Amino acid sequence: MNNFLRLWQTTTVRLTALFIVIFVVASVGLLAFMAYQSTIVIQRNQTRDIEREIRQIMRIEHERGVRATAVAVQALSNRPGQGIYYLGDDAGRMLVGNLSDFPSSVLAIEGVHTFDYDRGRAFSEEGEDEAEHFEGYALVQSVLLDSGLRLIVGRDIRERRGFAAIIFQGFFFGVIGIVVFSAVAGGLTARRVLRRIDSITDTSTKIMSGNLSERVPVTKRNDEFDRLANSLNDMLDRIEQLMQGLKDVTDNVAHDLKTPLTRLRNKSEAALRPGVSAKERQKALETTIEESDQLIRTFNALLMIARAEAGAPSGAFADVDISEVATDMAELYQPVVEDAGMTLETNIAADIHLRANRELIGQALVNLVENAVKYARTGKVTVGVRESNDRVLIEVTDEGPGIPEADRGEVTKRFVRLEKSRTETGSGLGLSLVSAVAQLHRGTLRLEDAEPGLRAIIDLPKSAKN
Ligand SMILES: Nc1ncnc2c1ncn2[C@@H]1O[C@H](COP(=O)(O)OP(=O)(O)OP(=O)(O)O)[C@@H](O)[C@H]1O
Ligand SMILES: [Mg+2]
Repeated sequence: MNNFLRLWQTTTVRLTALFIVIFVVASVGLLAFMAYQSTIVIQRNQTRDIEREIRQIMRIEHERGVRATAVAVQALSNRPGQGIYYLGDDAGRMLVGNLSDFPSSVLAIEGVHTFDYDRGRAFSEEGEDEAEHFEGYALVQSVLLDSGLRLIVGRDIRERRGFAAIIFQGFFFGVIGIVVFSAVAGGLTARRVLRRIDSITDTSTKIMSGNLSERVPVTKRNDEFDRLANSLNDMLDRIEQLMQGLKDVTDNVAHDLKTPLTRLRNKSEAALRPGVSAKERQKALETTIEESDQLIRTFNALLMIARAEAGAPSGAFADVDISEVATDMAELYQPVVEDAGMTLETNIAADIHLRANRELIGQALVNLVENAVKYARTGKVTVGVRESNDRVLIEVTDEGPGIPEADRGEVTKRFVRLEKSRTETGSGLGLSLVSAVAQLHRGTLRLEDAEPGLRAIIDLPKSAKN
Protein backbone atom coordinates (compact mmCIF):
# COMPACT_ATOMS: atom_id res chain seq x y z
CA MET A 1 0.00 0.00 0.00
CA ASN A 2 2.79 2.31 0.99
CA ASN A 3 4.62 1.40 -2.21
CA PHE A 4 1.52 2.10 -4.21
CA LEU A 5 1.21 5.52 -2.58
CA ARG A 6 4.84 6.28 -3.40
CA LEU A 7 4.24 5.27 -7.02
CA TRP A 8 1.12 7.40 -7.17
CA GLN A 9 3.09 10.38 -5.97
CA THR A 10 5.50 10.20 -8.92
CA THR A 11 5.07 12.58 -11.83
CA THR A 12 5.27 9.67 -14.30
CA VAL A 13 2.30 7.83 -12.82
CA ARG A 14 0.22 10.98 -12.51
CA LEU A 15 0.95 11.93 -16.11
CA THR A 16 0.11 8.39 -17.24
CA ALA A 17 -3.18 8.55 -15.34
CA LEU A 18 -4.01 11.89 -16.92
CA PHE A 19 -3.25 10.52 -20.40
CA ILE A 20 -5.35 7.43 -19.75
CA VAL A 21 -8.31 9.63 -18.82
CA ILE A 22 -7.84 11.81 -21.91
CA PHE A 23 -7.46 8.71 -24.08
CA VAL A 24 -10.59 6.99 -22.73
CA VAL A 25 -12.72 10.11 -23.14
CA ALA A 26 -11.42 10.60 -26.69
CA SER A 27 -11.95 6.95 -27.69
CA VAL A 28 -15.44 6.77 -26.25
CA GLY A 29 -16.30 9.92 -28.20
CA LEU A 30 -14.80 8.44 -31.35
CA LEU A 31 -16.60 5.15 -30.81
CA ALA A 32 -19.95 6.86 -30.37
CA PHE A 33 -19.38 8.91 -33.48
CA MET A 34 -18.35 5.89 -35.58
CA ALA A 35 -21.20 3.70 -34.34
CA TYR A 36 -23.68 6.46 -35.04
CA GLN A 37 -22.27 7.10 -38.49
CA SER A 38 -22.18 3.46 -39.55
CA THR A 39 -25.74 2.72 -38.39
CA ILE A 40 -26.98 5.81 -40.16
CA VAL A 41 -25.37 4.70 -43.42
CA ILE A 42 -26.70 1.13 -43.20
CA GLN A 43 -30.16 2.34 -42.25
CA ARG A 44 -30.19 4.73 -45.16
CA ASN A 45 -29.22 1.94 -47.59
CA GLN A 46 -31.88 -0.42 -46.28
CA THR A 47 -34.59 2.21 -46.39
CA ARG A 48 -33.66 3.00 -49.96
CA ASP A 49 -33.83 -0.71 -50.95
CA ILE A 50 -37.21 -1.08 -49.29
CA GLU A 51 -38.58 1.97 -51.07
CA ARG A 52 -37.24 0.79 -54.42
CA GLU A 53 -38.90 -2.61 -54.08
CA ILE A 54 -42.19 -1.00 -53.09
CA ARG A 55 -42.05 1.22 -56.16
CA GLN A 56 -41.31 -1.81 -58.37
CA ILE A 57 -44.24 -3.76 -56.97
CA MET A 58 -46.59 -0.80 -57.31
CA ARG A 59 -45.53 -0.42 -60.93
CA ILE A 60 -46.20 -4.12 -61.58
CA GLU A 61 -49.67 -3.82 -59.97
CA HIS A 62 -50.36 -0.79 -62.08
CA GLU A 63 -49.22 -2.27 -65.36
CA ARG A 64 -49.93 -6.00 -65.04
CA GLY A 65 -52.56 -6.39 -62.33
CA VAL A 66 -52.97 -8.12 -58.99
CA ARG A 67 -51.96 -11.57 -60.13
CA ALA A 68 -48.59 -10.46 -61.48
CA THR A 69 -48.10 -8.54 -58.24
CA ALA A 70 -48.64 -11.66 -56.15
CA VAL A 71 -46.19 -13.60 -58.33
CA ALA A 72 -43.62 -10.84 -57.98
CA VAL A 73 -43.98 -10.67 -54.17
CA GLN A 74 -43.79 -14.46 -53.98
CA ALA A 75 -40.57 -14.41 -56.04
CA LEU A 76 -39.08 -11.76 -53.78
CA SER A 77 -39.99 -13.57 -50.59
CA ASN A 78 -38.43 -16.80 -51.85
CA ARG A 79 -35.06 -15.12 -52.24
CA PRO A 80 -32.64 -15.94 -49.45
CA GLY A 81 -31.66 -12.95 -47.32
CA GLN A 82 -33.02 -10.60 -44.77
CA GLY A 83 -36.03 -9.45 -46.78
CA ILE A 84 -39.52 -9.47 -45.25
CA TYR A 85 -42.51 -9.48 -47.63
CA TYR A 86 -46.24 -9.63 -47.13
CA LEU A 87 -49.18 -9.20 -49.43
CA GLY A 88 -52.63 -9.55 -47.82
CA ASP A 89 -56.24 -8.64 -48.25
CA ASP A 90 -58.18 -6.07 -46.27
CA ALA A 91 -59.33 -8.76 -43.82
CA GLY A 92 -55.73 -9.27 -42.74
CA ARG A 93 -55.18 -12.61 -44.48
CA MET A 94 -51.84 -13.23 -46.13
CA LEU A 95 -51.93 -14.03 -49.81
CA VAL A 96 -48.22 -14.43 -50.39
CA GLY A 97 -45.10 -13.55 -48.40
CA ASN A 98 -42.72 -14.93 -45.85
CA LEU A 99 -44.09 -13.34 -42.67
CA SER A 100 -47.72 -13.20 -41.59
CA ASP A 101 -47.39 -12.42 -37.96
CA PHE A 102 -47.45 -8.62 -37.79
CA PRO A 103 -48.52 -6.31 -34.99
CA SER A 104 -51.98 -5.02 -35.85
CA SER A 105 -50.74 -1.43 -36.17
CA VAL A 106 -48.49 -2.46 -39.08
CA LEU A 107 -51.48 -3.95 -40.90
CA ALA A 108 -53.62 -0.90 -40.20
CA ILE A 109 -51.38 2.10 -40.53
CA GLU A 110 -49.26 3.06 -43.54
CA GLY A 111 -45.66 4.05 -42.92
CA VAL A 112 -42.45 2.81 -41.33
CA HIS A 113 -42.57 0.42 -38.36
CA THR A 114 -40.09 -1.51 -36.28
CA PHE A 115 -41.01 -4.54 -34.15
CA ASP A 116 -39.81 -7.84 -32.73
CA TYR A 117 -41.04 -11.01 -34.36
CA ASP A 118 -40.52 -14.73 -34.30
CA ARG A 119 -37.94 -15.18 -36.97
CA GLY A 120 -38.29 -18.98 -37.07
CA ARG A 121 -41.57 -18.66 -38.86
CA ALA A 122 -40.26 -16.25 -41.39
CA PHE A 123 -37.19 -18.09 -42.54
CA SER A 124 -37.96 -21.70 -41.67
CA GLU A 125 -38.13 -22.61 -45.34
CA GLU A 126 -34.41 -21.77 -45.69
CA GLY A 127 -33.74 -24.75 -43.48
CA GLU A 128 -31.58 -22.97 -40.98
CA ASP A 129 -31.26 -25.12 -37.89
CA GLU A 130 -30.93 -22.27 -35.48
CA ALA A 131 -33.85 -20.50 -37.09
CA GLU A 132 -36.40 -22.59 -35.20
CA HIS A 133 -37.37 -20.01 -32.64
CA PHE A 134 -35.31 -17.00 -33.31
CA GLU A 135 -36.14 -13.55 -32.21
CA GLY A 136 -35.97 -11.15 -35.14
CA TYR A 137 -36.15 -7.40 -35.29
CA ALA A 138 -37.85 -5.89 -38.33
CA LEU A 139 -37.88 -2.55 -40.06
CA VAL A 140 -40.80 -2.47 -42.49
CA GLN A 141 -42.80 -0.11 -44.62
CA SER A 142 -46.50 -0.75 -44.93
CA VAL A 143 -48.52 0.56 -47.92
CA LEU A 144 -52.07 0.15 -49.16
CA LEU A 145 -52.05 -0.70 -52.89
CA ASP A 146 -54.55 0.77 -55.33
CA SER A 147 -56.30 -2.59 -55.49
CA GLY A 148 -56.98 -2.44 -51.74
CA LEU A 149 -54.33 -5.03 -50.92
CA ARG A 150 -51.82 -4.38 -48.15
CA LEU A 151 -48.15 -4.60 -49.11
CA ILE A 152 -45.46 -4.78 -46.45
CA VAL A 153 -41.78 -4.78 -47.41
CA GLY A 154 -39.03 -4.79 -44.85
CA ARG A 155 -35.67 -6.02 -43.61
CA ASP A 156 -34.53 -7.89 -40.59
CA ILE A 157 -32.21 -5.44 -38.89
CA ARG A 158 -31.19 -7.60 -36.01
CA GLU A 159 -27.76 -8.00 -37.61
CA ARG A 160 -27.40 -4.30 -37.95
CA ARG A 161 -27.84 -4.00 -34.23
CA GLY A 162 -25.38 -6.86 -33.82
CA PHE A 163 -22.93 -5.00 -35.97
CA ALA A 164 -23.04 -1.95 -33.68
CA ALA A 165 -22.60 -4.23 -30.71
CA ILE A 166 -19.54 -5.81 -32.35
CA ILE A 167 -17.98 -2.42 -33.01
CA PHE A 168 -18.72 -1.39 -29.46
CA GLN A 169 -17.27 -4.60 -28.07
CA GLY A 170 -14.11 -4.20 -30.11
CA PHE A 171 -13.68 -0.69 -28.90
CA PHE A 172 -14.46 -1.61 -25.34
CA PHE A 173 -11.84 -4.34 -25.19
CA GLY A 174 -9.37 -2.19 -27.11
CA VAL A 175 -9.78 0.65 -24.64
CA ILE A 176 -9.48 -1.70 -21.67
CA GLY A 177 -6.35 -3.22 -23.20
CA ILE A 178 -4.73 0.14 -23.77
CA VAL A 179 -5.67 1.36 -20.29
CA VAL A 180 -4.18 -1.74 -18.69
CA PHE A 181 -1.08 -1.51 -20.89
CA SER A 182 -0.51 2.18 -20.12
CA ALA A 183 -1.10 1.67 -16.41
CA VAL A 184 1.45 -1.16 -16.32
CA ALA A 185 3.94 0.77 -18.48
CA GLY A 186 3.50 3.94 -16.39
CA GLY A 187 3.89 1.97 -13.19
CA LEU A 188 7.05 0.26 -14.42
CA THR A 189 8.59 3.53 -15.61
CA ALA A 190 7.74 5.21 -12.33
CA ARG A 191 9.29 2.32 -10.45
CA ARG A 192 12.46 2.67 -12.47
CA VAL A 193 12.56 6.39 -11.74
CA LEU A 194 11.97 5.74 -8.04
CA ARG A 195 14.74 3.17 -7.99
CA ARG A 196 17.22 5.67 -9.46
CA ILE A 197 16.11 8.36 -7.01
CA ASP A 198 16.42 5.87 -4.16
CA SER A 199 19.98 5.08 -5.15
CA ILE A 200 20.82 8.79 -5.01
CA THR A 201 19.11 9.09 -1.62
CA ASP A 202 21.02 6.05 -0.37
CA THR A 203 24.29 7.58 -1.41
CA SER A 204 23.55 10.88 0.28
CA THR A 205 22.55 9.06 3.47
CA LYS A 206 25.86 7.19 3.42
CA ILE A 207 27.73 10.43 2.81
CA MET A 208 25.88 12.16 5.63
CA SER A 209 26.86 9.34 7.95
CA GLY A 210 30.49 10.24 7.26
CA ASN A 211 31.68 8.31 4.21
CA LEU A 212 32.62 11.16 1.90
CA SER A 213 34.15 8.81 -0.69
CA GLU A 214 30.71 7.37 -1.63
CA ARG A 215 29.53 8.20 -5.14
CA VAL A 216 26.15 8.01 -6.88
CA PRO A 217 26.15 5.01 -9.26
CA VAL A 218 26.20 5.98 -12.94
CA THR A 219 24.80 3.64 -15.62
CA LYS A 220 25.84 3.41 -19.26
CA ARG A 221 22.48 4.75 -20.43
CA ASN A 222 23.62 8.36 -20.24
CA ASP A 223 20.08 9.51 -19.44
CA GLU A 224 18.99 12.50 -17.37
CA PHE A 225 19.66 10.58 -14.15
CA ASP A 226 23.20 9.84 -15.25
CA ARG A 227 23.73 13.50 -15.96
CA LEU A 228 22.37 14.35 -12.52
CA ALA A 229 24.51 11.62 -10.94
CA ASN A 230 27.59 12.89 -12.77
CA SER A 231 27.12 16.46 -11.65
CA LEU A 232 26.42 15.31 -8.08
CA ASN A 233 29.58 13.23 -8.20
CA ASP A 234 31.58 16.18 -9.53
CA MET A 235 30.23 18.25 -6.67
CA LEU A 236 31.18 15.51 -4.20
CA ASP A 237 34.67 15.33 -5.72
CA ARG A 238 35.04 19.05 -5.20
CA ILE A 239 33.75 18.87 -1.63
CA GLU A 240 36.06 15.99 -0.87
CA GLN A 241 38.98 17.89 -2.35
CA LEU A 242 38.14 20.94 -0.21
CA MET A 243 37.82 18.77 2.88
CA GLN A 244 41.15 17.17 2.07
CA GLY A 245 42.67 20.64 1.64
CA LEU A 246 41.31 21.66 5.01
CA LYS A 247 42.71 18.56 6.59
CA ASP A 248 46.11 19.21 4.97
CA VAL A 249 46.14 22.74 6.31
CA THR A 250 45.30 21.55 9.80
CA ASP A 251 47.97 18.86 9.61
CA ASN A 252 50.52 21.34 8.26
CA VAL A 253 49.70 23.92 10.88
CA ALA A 254 49.98 21.34 13.59
CA HIS A 255 53.25 19.98 12.26
CA ASP A 256 55.06 23.02 10.87
CA LEU A 257 54.09 25.55 13.47
CA LYS A 258 54.78 23.30 16.41
CA THR A 259 58.53 23.21 15.84
CA PRO A 260 59.07 27.00 15.73
CA LEU A 261 56.73 27.47 18.68
CA THR A 262 58.61 24.92 20.73
CA ARG A 263 61.89 26.55 19.75
CA LEU A 264 60.51 29.92 20.80
CA ARG A 265 59.43 28.56 24.12
CA ASN A 266 62.79 26.88 24.79
CA LYS A 267 64.71 30.02 23.92
CA SER A 268 62.57 32.12 26.27
CA GLU A 269 63.05 29.57 29.01
CA ALA A 270 66.81 29.60 28.51
CA ALA A 271 66.84 33.40 28.70
CA LEU A 272 65.06 33.27 32.05
CA ARG A 273 67.65 30.98 33.63
CA PRO A 274 69.67 32.57 36.47
CA GLY A 275 73.08 33.90 35.46
CA VAL A 276 72.05 35.19 32.05
CA SER A 277 73.21 38.76 31.53
CA ALA A 278 70.75 41.57 30.86
CA LYS A 279 72.24 42.05 27.42
CA GLU A 280 71.71 38.41 26.50
CA ARG A 281 68.12 38.60 27.74
CA GLN A 282 67.57 41.67 25.64
CA LYS A 283 68.88 39.81 22.60
CA ALA A 284 66.73 36.75 23.37
CA LEU A 285 63.64 38.97 23.57
CA GLU A 286 64.48 40.53 20.20
CA THR A 287 64.78 37.10 18.57
CA THR A 288 61.51 36.09 20.16
CA ILE A 289 59.77 39.06 18.61
CA GLU A 290 61.38 38.38 15.24
CA GLU A 291 60.35 34.74 15.26
CA SER A 292 56.85 35.60 16.44
CA ASP A 293 56.53 37.98 13.50
CA GLN A 294 57.55 35.19 11.15
CA LEU A 295 54.96 32.92 12.79
CA ILE A 296 52.27 35.54 12.34
CA ARG A 297 53.25 35.92 8.69
CA THR A 298 53.00 32.18 8.20
CA PHE A 299 49.59 32.12 9.85
CA ASN A 300 48.38 34.93 7.64
CA ALA A 301 49.71 33.23 4.53
CA LEU A 302 47.99 29.96 5.50
CA LEU A 303 44.70 31.75 6.13
CA MET A 304 44.93 33.53 2.80
CA ILE A 305 45.64 30.30 0.93
CA ALA A 306 42.75 28.59 2.68
CA ARG A 307 40.46 31.45 1.75
CA ALA A 308 41.63 31.49 -1.87
CA GLU A 309 41.24 27.72 -2.18
CA ALA A 310 37.77 27.72 -0.68
CA GLY A 311 36.81 30.31 -3.30
CA ALA A 312 36.51 33.88 -2.09
CA PRO A 313 32.94 35.15 -1.73
CA SER A 314 31.84 36.53 -5.09
CA GLY A 315 31.40 39.98 -3.51
CA ALA A 316 35.18 40.16 -3.32
CA PHE A 317 35.36 40.05 -7.12
CA ALA A 318 35.27 43.33 -8.93
CA ASP A 319 36.54 44.90 -12.10
CA VAL A 320 40.26 45.33 -11.38
CA ASP A 321 42.74 47.36 -13.41
CA ILE A 322 45.55 44.81 -13.38
CA SER A 323 47.97 47.29 -15.01
CA GLU A 324 47.40 49.70 -12.15
CA VAL A 325 47.83 47.01 -9.48
CA ALA A 326 51.15 45.92 -11.04
CA THR A 327 52.42 49.50 -11.46
CA ASP A 328 51.59 50.38 -7.82
CA MET A 329 53.29 47.26 -6.58
CA ALA A 330 56.40 47.90 -8.69
CA GLU A 331 56.67 51.46 -7.31
CA LEU A 332 56.30 50.18 -3.76
CA TYR A 333 58.97 47.53 -4.21
CA GLN A 334 61.45 49.64 -6.19
CA PRO A 335 63.41 50.65 -3.01
CA VAL A 336 63.39 47.08 -1.65
CA VAL A 337 64.81 45.71 -4.89
CA GLU A 338 67.42 48.45 -5.12
CA ASP A 339 68.47 47.92 -1.48
CA ALA A 340 69.25 44.34 -2.47
CA GLY A 341 71.56 45.66 -5.20
CA MET A 342 69.20 44.74 -8.03
CA THR A 343 67.16 46.68 -10.57
CA LEU A 344 63.40 46.57 -11.17
CA GLU A 345 62.00 46.96 -14.65
CA THR A 346 58.39 47.06 -15.73
CA ASN A 347 56.80 46.01 -18.98
CA ILE A 348 53.18 46.70 -18.21
CA ALA A 349 50.60 47.19 -20.98
CA ALA A 350 48.12 49.91 -20.08
CA ASP A 351 44.49 49.42 -19.21
CA ILE A 352 44.17 45.68 -18.77
CA HIS A 353 41.05 44.90 -16.81
CA LEU A 354 39.80 41.69 -15.28
CA ARG A 355 37.11 40.58 -12.86
CA ALA A 356 39.29 39.64 -9.96
CA ASN A 357 40.05 39.92 -6.29
CA ARG A 358 42.37 42.92 -6.07
CA GLU A 359 43.90 42.08 -2.71
CA LEU A 360 44.80 38.50 -3.68
CA ILE A 361 46.24 39.44 -7.08
CA GLY A 362 48.37 42.13 -5.37
CA GLN A 363 49.59 39.66 -2.74
CA ALA A 364 50.48 37.08 -5.43
CA LEU A 365 52.60 39.68 -7.26
CA VAL A 366 54.32 40.67 -4.01
CA ASN A 367 55.16 37.02 -3.30
CA LEU A 368 56.73 36.59 -6.75
CA VAL A 369 58.81 39.77 -6.49
CA GLU A 370 59.93 38.85 -2.96
CA ASN A 371 61.06 35.45 -4.25
CA ALA A 372 62.98 37.09 -7.09
CA VAL A 373 64.80 39.36 -4.63
CA LYS A 374 65.42 36.55 -2.15
CA TYR A 375 66.65 33.87 -4.53
CA ALA A 376 68.15 35.69 -7.53
CA ARG A 377 70.17 38.21 -5.48
CA THR A 378 71.64 39.96 -8.54
CA GLY A 379 70.57 41.25 -11.92
CA LYS A 380 67.24 42.67 -12.84
CA VAL A 381 63.68 41.79 -11.96
CA THR A 382 61.06 42.40 -14.61
CA VAL A 383 57.36 42.78 -13.83
CA GLY A 384 55.17 42.41 -16.91
CA VAL A 385 51.46 42.46 -17.65
CA ARG A 386 50.12 41.66 -21.10
CA GLU A 387 47.09 40.32 -22.86
CA SER A 388 47.09 37.48 -25.37
CA ASN A 389 44.18 35.56 -26.89
CA ASP A 390 41.62 36.42 -24.24
CA ARG A 391 44.09 35.70 -21.48
CA VAL A 392 45.82 38.05 -19.10
CA LEU A 393 49.43 37.16 -18.30
CA ILE A 394 51.14 38.57 -15.22
CA GLU A 395 54.86 37.74 -15.29
CA VAL A 396 57.75 38.19 -12.88
CA THR A 397 61.15 37.33 -14.35
CA ASP A 398 64.55 37.29 -12.60
CA GLU A 399 68.09 36.41 -13.62
CA GLY A 400 68.93 34.11 -10.71
CA PRO A 401 69.51 30.36 -10.52
CA GLY A 402 65.88 29.47 -11.35
CA ILE A 403 64.13 26.29 -10.22
CA PRO A 404 65.21 22.94 -11.73
CA GLU A 405 62.45 21.49 -13.91
CA ALA A 406 62.00 18.48 -11.60
CA ASP A 407 61.20 20.73 -8.63
CA ARG A 408 58.74 23.05 -10.36
CA GLY A 409 55.73 20.91 -9.47
CA GLU A 410 56.81 20.58 -5.86
CA VAL A 411 57.55 24.21 -4.95
CA THR A 412 53.91 25.25 -5.30
CA LYS A 413 52.91 22.85 -2.50
CA ARG A 414 52.58 24.18 1.03
CA PHE A 415 55.73 24.44 3.13
CA VAL A 416 57.95 23.15 0.33
CA ARG A 417 61.33 24.94 0.21
CA LEU A 418 64.26 23.81 -1.85
CA GLU A 419 67.33 22.61 0.02
CA LYS A 420 69.58 25.49 -1.11
CA SER A 421 67.06 28.06 0.18
CA ARG A 422 67.20 26.99 3.80
CA THR A 423 69.48 29.89 4.65
CA GLU A 424 66.78 32.42 3.71
CA THR A 425 63.86 33.15 6.00
CA GLY A 426 60.52 31.94 4.72
CA SER A 427 57.99 29.24 5.28
CA GLY A 428 57.48 27.82 1.80
CA LEU A 429 53.98 29.24 1.42
CA GLY A 430 54.61 32.05 -1.10
CA LEU A 431 54.14 30.07 -4.31
CA SER A 432 51.28 28.02 -2.78
CA LEU A 433 49.35 31.24 -2.38
CA VAL A 434 50.17 32.39 -5.92
CA SER A 435 48.97 29.05 -7.27
CA ALA A 436 45.79 29.14 -5.16
CA VAL A 437 45.05 32.69 -6.34
CA ALA A 438 45.53 31.66 -9.97
CA GLN A 439 43.15 28.72 -9.52
CA LEU A 440 40.60 30.90 -7.77
CA HIS A 441 40.55 33.01 -10.95
CA ARG A 442 40.31 29.82 -13.03
CA GLY A 443 43.83 30.25 -14.25
CA THR A 444 47.20 28.62 -13.60
CA LEU A 445 50.64 29.45 -12.28
CA ARG A 446 53.41 28.45 -14.71
CA LEU A 447 57.08 28.38 -13.79
CA GLU A 448 59.42 28.63 -16.78
CA ASP A 449 63.12 28.83 -17.44
CA ALA A 450 64.09 32.44 -18.28
CA GLU A 451 67.62 31.30 -19.32
CA PRO A 452 69.02 32.24 -16.92
CA GLY A 453 66.56 32.76 -14.12
CA LEU A 454 62.97 32.01 -13.35
CA ARG A 455 59.90 33.33 -15.09
CA ALA A 456 56.73 32.93 -13.03
CA ILE A 457 53.56 33.49 -15.08
CA ILE A 458 50.10 33.91 -13.62
CA ASP A 459 47.93 32.96 -16.60
CA LEU A 460 44.28 34.03 -16.17
CA PRO A 461 41.34 33.73 -18.57
CA LYS A 462 39.74 37.08 -19.42
CA SER A 463 36.28 35.60 -19.11
CA ALA A 464 36.76 34.53 -15.49
CA LYS A 465 33.18 35.24 -14.48
CA ASN A 466 32.69 34.87 -10.77
N1 LIG B 1 62.73 33.21 -8.13
C1 LIG B 1 63.18 32.06 -7.64
N2 LIG B 1 64.42 31.60 -7.97
C2 LIG B 1 64.84 30.42 -7.46
N3 LIG B 1 64.17 29.64 -6.62
C3 LIG B 1 62.96 30.05 -6.24
C4 LIG B 1 62.40 31.27 -6.72
N4 LIG B 1 61.16 31.39 -6.21
C5 LIG B 1 60.96 30.33 -5.41
N5 LIG B 1 62.04 29.51 -5.42
C6 LIG B 1 62.13 28.22 -4.69
O1 LIG B 1 60.88 27.75 -4.39
C7 LIG B 1 60.68 27.55 -3.01
C8 LIG B 1 59.27 27.87 -2.62
O2 LIG B 1 59.02 29.26 -2.74
P1 LIG B 1 57.90 29.92 -1.87
O3 LIG B 1 57.78 31.34 -2.26
O4 LIG B 1 56.73 29.05 -1.96
O5 LIG B 1 58.44 29.79 -0.40
P2 LIG B 1 59.55 30.65 0.31
O6 LIG B 1 59.93 31.79 -0.51
O7 LIG B 1 60.61 29.68 0.69
O8 LIG B 1 58.83 31.11 1.64
P3 LIG B 1 57.71 32.27 1.78
O9 LIG B 1 57.46 32.76 0.39
O10 LIG B 1 56.58 31.61 2.39
O11 LIG B 1 58.35 33.29 2.63
C9 LIG B 1 61.68 28.48 -2.39
O12 LIG B 1 62.05 28.01 -1.11
C10 LIG B 1 62.84 28.42 -3.38
O13 LIG B 1 63.63 27.29 -3.12
MG1 LIG C 1 58.49 33.09 -1.29
